[in-house]
Amino acid sequence: MPKDFLSVADWTAEEIFSMLGRAQSLRRLHAQGERPQTLQGRTLAMYFEKPSLRTHVTFEAGMAQLGGHAVLLRPEKVGIGTRESPRDVARNLSRWVDVLMARTFSHSLVEQLAEEATIPIINGLTDLLHPCQAMADLQTMAAEQDPRRATLVYIGDGNNMANSLLLLSSVIGMNFRLATPESHRPSTRVRRQAETLAKASGASLSWTKDPVEAVRGADFIYTDTWTSMGQEEEAEWRRELFAGYQVNASLLLQAPDAFVMHCLPAHRGEEITSDVLDGPRSLVYEQAENRLHAQKAILERLILGPSAD
Ligand code: CP
Ligand code: NVA
Repeated sequence: MPKDFLSVADWTAEEIFSMLGRAQSLRRLHAQGERPQTLQGRTLAMYFEKPSLRTHVTFEAGMAQLGGHAVLLRPEKVGIGTRESPRDVARNLSRWVDVLMARTFSHSLVEQLAEEATIPIINGLTDLLHPCQAMADLQTMAAEQDPRRATLVYIGDGNNMANSLLLLSSVIGMNFRLATPESHRPSTRVRRQAETLAKASGASLSWTKDPVEAVRGADFIYTDTWTSMGQEEEAEWRRELFAGYQVNASLLLQAPDAFVMHCLPAHRGEEITSDVLDGPRSLVYEQAENRLHAQKAILERLILGPSAD
């Protein structure tokens, strides 16, 4: 098994379903008031170059609930790449803590940290990928139906969320349709990797410019912000470019049985309307809840190995 959790594409379908099974058990145990102390005496370091609510709280609370501890590192204090090289930070942390979760702009920085560290590195979101969110989303979909038989449709910007869901679908054999403007399809690197993985898993992958065509027959409709963290200066032209990609009541008429998903934070009235986000078909708070359980399963897997599942 890989040392790190940088991309779902580094893991096999079997490993992903095994972590999913553990996340489902952890959710059940949590609801019964049980807190298995599997990570007693273990420490997670968390490094955030970008803001966070869900990732920060669920990693910190998750470690505490498993009997471990989390330390928050801020870029202005640590300065990876400015005060100190990624190599030295990775080598120091490897002597003190059991695992590092990093949210960075550049994906190559988490790759470099993983290469230099002897401890596991978890990708807590980069400009390219958000694999922890994809695992929570898998748990959320699995509560409704077998994901391998499901059709997931992503509408909007071909960003880190689109990339991660495309890779997840390709690994596990889920049908994935994407509706984005031609100019904002997922990165070529990710598309090539997804096509190779899909050949092995049998996933069907497709792309269209047209959100109405994309959502017909969908089981899950997913969207994310049109302006990701770090793109704030582009917000105005992005609102114009993606205006036709809003997930609203009229689009949902084309997919009467579909659930609606969003990783949050949402820009209500832009990529999704409030009536849909708060409506009966929305799974957004389930997704947020599952961040806690999915990440506990990832932490256990990386720290304790496959026996953890
Ligand atoms: N979905 C998600 O990762 O939320 P945060 O940015 O608040 O961590
Ligand atoms: N695409 C969004 C995801 C936030 C969880 C961003 O990168 O800001």
